[in-house]
Amino acid sequence: MVKFDKIHAIEILDSRGNPTLMTKVYLSDGTVGIAKVPSGASTGVNEAVELRDGGTRYGGKGVLQAVENVNGPLFAAVRSVDPLDLHAVDAALIAADASKSKSKFGANAILSISMATAVAAAQHLEMPLFKFIRTQVLKKPEKYLVPVPLSNVINGGAHAGNDLAIQEFKILPVGAGGIREAIQMLSEVYHTLGKNMIAKYGRMAKHVGDEGGFCGFGLKSTQDAFEEMVRAISDAGYTPGDDVVLGIDAAASGFYSDGMYSIDGKKLSAGELLDFYVDLEKTYPLKSVEDPFDEAAFSEFAEYTKKTKIQVITDDLTVSNPDIVRKAVEMKAGNALLLKVNQIGSVTEAIEAAKIANAADWPIVVSHRSGETGDTFIADLSVALSTGQIKTGAPARSDRVEKYNRLLEIYDILNGDCGYPGHDFRTAWRNY
Ligand code: PGA
Ligand code: ZN
Repeated sequence: MVKFDKIHAIEILDSRGNPTLMTKVYLSDGTVGIAKVPSGASTGVNEAVELRDGGTRYGGKGVLQAVENVNGPLFAAVRSVDPLDLHAVDAALIAADASKSKSKFGANAILSISMATAVAAAQHLEMPLFKFIRTQVLKKPEKYLVPVPLSNVINGGAHAGNDLAIQEFKILPVGAGGIREAIQMLSEVYHTLGKNMIAKYGRMAKHVGDEGGFCGFGLKSTQDAFEEMVRAISDAGYTPGDDVVLGIDAAASGFYSDGMYSIDGKKLSAGELLDFYVDLEKTYPLKSVEDPFDEAAFSEFAEYTKKTKIQVITDDLTVSNPDIVRKAVEMKAGNALLLKVNQIGSVTEAIEAAKIANAADWPIVVSHRSGETGDTFIADLSVALSTGQIKTGAPARSDRVEKYNRLLEIYDILNGDCGYPGHDFRTAWRNY
């Protein structure tokens, strides 16, 4: 039986130049799994704890303690566990930490082992990672759905230095026949958007934000951003609302204070903000809204979900935490779940959150963080879970593009024998 041989972590940098962990899991047969951990900027208050060293090194953001925790106590906790049994590995890591929010050893430390073990186990079994998760962890038959990307082409909020309150303006290539055409469409619309905005606002518009989307220089309002997206889709030769639809991540906690939401130079009540979203839906082909209200506003999420027919994704509200997802599902506070493995700190707990959401007929959107690395785990996770949706930034900058490239590679590994949800991005997962 294969065993853990060694686990070794080091401190590396993420896409914002902040420290994070790279962990290597060595198995007794010589196979190695590598994982690099992402990091958010607009983090939810209920996320598992990302352990940082404090002090002056890297402005307090060093992860040397987390590295030591991986190499010492966490390795000790799993060394006699079967590395092919990811549930058992995660359970041992969670038990060793024993805190509710993984604050003792750090969710970043724990997750790095969880991910790298899955990668090593897949290597050992000589199968691609998505197949390992699908057949060995989920124990589901092989039938694959490659997701529609929700691609963030204009960055605002905490991810860019501009006047846009809304954090992410996304395009969804639902009219594509498959992932290859979808990515081509993303790239074409993205470049058209850039050219249009440079022509209108000047060279500063070329700059990009944390997720590779344009920084929105010159854009003064939410409406300006929507107009530019619709124009870019048309100018690239596609039909807005048919070939490409729109999404946003408001990440509304970022512009919420004292009961009011500051957006486009106004202060709106929750009710007024709800009307604002409904108006956007009427004016533009907006089909997906994430975190429309503050991260504690379960009732407002529920009210909006009741009123609208479009996708209402919970992210900061639910932080991929099974218990909180259960609460949101019960309250009907949303109708889709954003899944970020580092919010909860282990792969199998994230899968549990996904199962709870799916059981309530909520689709899943597997997501990157604004601070990323070249790690492509989430592309495989999305295919393994057949979520039908992935959010991994603009088709630019290698921290984002690597995930798109992995989806193209997965398509190739499958010889094209996989579905693409297209317009059915919210429901196709039910058949997989
Ligand atoms: P974050 O942003 O990684 O900075 O939290 C992504 C998101 O809010 O979805
Ligand atoms: Zn979000």
